Amino acid sequence: MPQCATAALPRDGPRGQVSGAAAAGALPKRVKVVEVGPRDGLQNEKNVVPTPVKINLINMLSETGLQVIEATSFVSPKWVPQMADHTEVMQGINKLPGVSYPVLTPNLKGFQAAVAAGAKEVSIFGAASELFTKKNINCSIEESLERFGEVMTAARAASIPVRGYVSCVLGCPYEGKISAAKVAEVSKKMYSMGCYEISLGDTIGIGTPGSMREMLTAVMKEVPVGALAVHCHDTYGQALANILVALQMGVSVVDASVAGLGGCPYAQGASGNVATEDLVYMLNGLGIHTGVDLQKLMDTGTFICNALNRRTNSKVSQASCRL
Ligand code: HMG
Ligand code: MG
Repeated sequence: MPQCATAALPRDGPRGQVSGAAAAGALPKRVKVVEVGPRDGLQNEKNVVPTPVKINLINMLSETGLQVIEATSFVSPKWVPQMADHTEVMQGINKLPGVSYPVLTPNLKGFQAAVAAGAKEVSIFGAASELFTKKNINCSIEESLERFGEVMTAARAASIPVRGYVSCVLGCPYEGKISAAKVAEVSKKMYSMGCYEISLGDTIGIGTPGSMREMLTAVMKEVPVGALAVHCHDTYGQALANILVALQMGVSVVDASVAGLGGCPYAQGASGNVATEDLVYMLNGLGIHTGVDLQKLMDTGTFICNALNRRTNSKVSQASCRL
């Protein structure tokens, strides 16, 4: 169902509402929001989204004040046909100064194709689960780290920064519970390899504030908190609560997806990421600076939901539509 055409913020909505900041104490003053909708969102669509729609989406996101927009993946088109137009997307978007457009690269082949298409930043993606790693990138954790090592070497030579994802940090669709110690071990290896940031993915959105706290406590012993990000899918409706715990523990980089799009084709049942609109609304309410214009973000959510002919997963957009 398409969205209402002009979603408006409530009149006394979150802008300027800083009362939460006083109580915030240890909360960061600024949060970097990493928008993953064009990649995490659109990789999971049943129908391949037309390239011009993807390009428009990224161009609109670029105008919202976001600093990082994950644009696409250089993975096998046989595995993820939704991302097969990666080169056209990278070459079709308006790259604004000050905005970074990282792309996923599972191996050297993907890295080389990404660089040839103009990528200036890449992400490697591993997991704390053997079975998920096998299903997602067709190798063991150990083999994945070897492949990532090749990417790191090439990236270092080309002065390309590399972000690292660790999936299944709060549970796996195939193995169930994942130990915090395993997450810490894989995170440490990817950080030691040279990733400037480790994004901890609750791939199936199963975590709670309790398991998030336990996992972060273990990971923070191995990786400095300033190099950590959280990536929360919202399958069980826990994403914002989990993110708040991460912020209280000092994390200041949060991944999110416009309109709450998303999922992983190799994690059955995983629903979308936390909606970027809802994250920004919460951060505004806490008096935490993001630099993101919520109204423009909501307009972008309306655009992509209309293009996909579906209702937004953003509660903030749903609520604003009713006003
Ligand atoms: P494979 O079949 O084991 O690869 O796939 P291979 O090295 O044996 O090669 C087989 C064929 O794939 C060859 O082509 C290669 O050239 C080609 P053929 O000779 O058959 O014509 N190939 C490639 N083609 C294009 N780009 C490449 C590439 N590499 C090999 N980079 C591979 C291994 C990693 C490629 C495959 O498993 C794959 O593409 N997986 C992608 C999975 C994926 O994209 N998952 C979603 C992203 S992860 C995610 O969503 C989680 C995250 O959001 C965090 C969270 O939520 O937790 C990040
Ligand atoms: Mg994801």
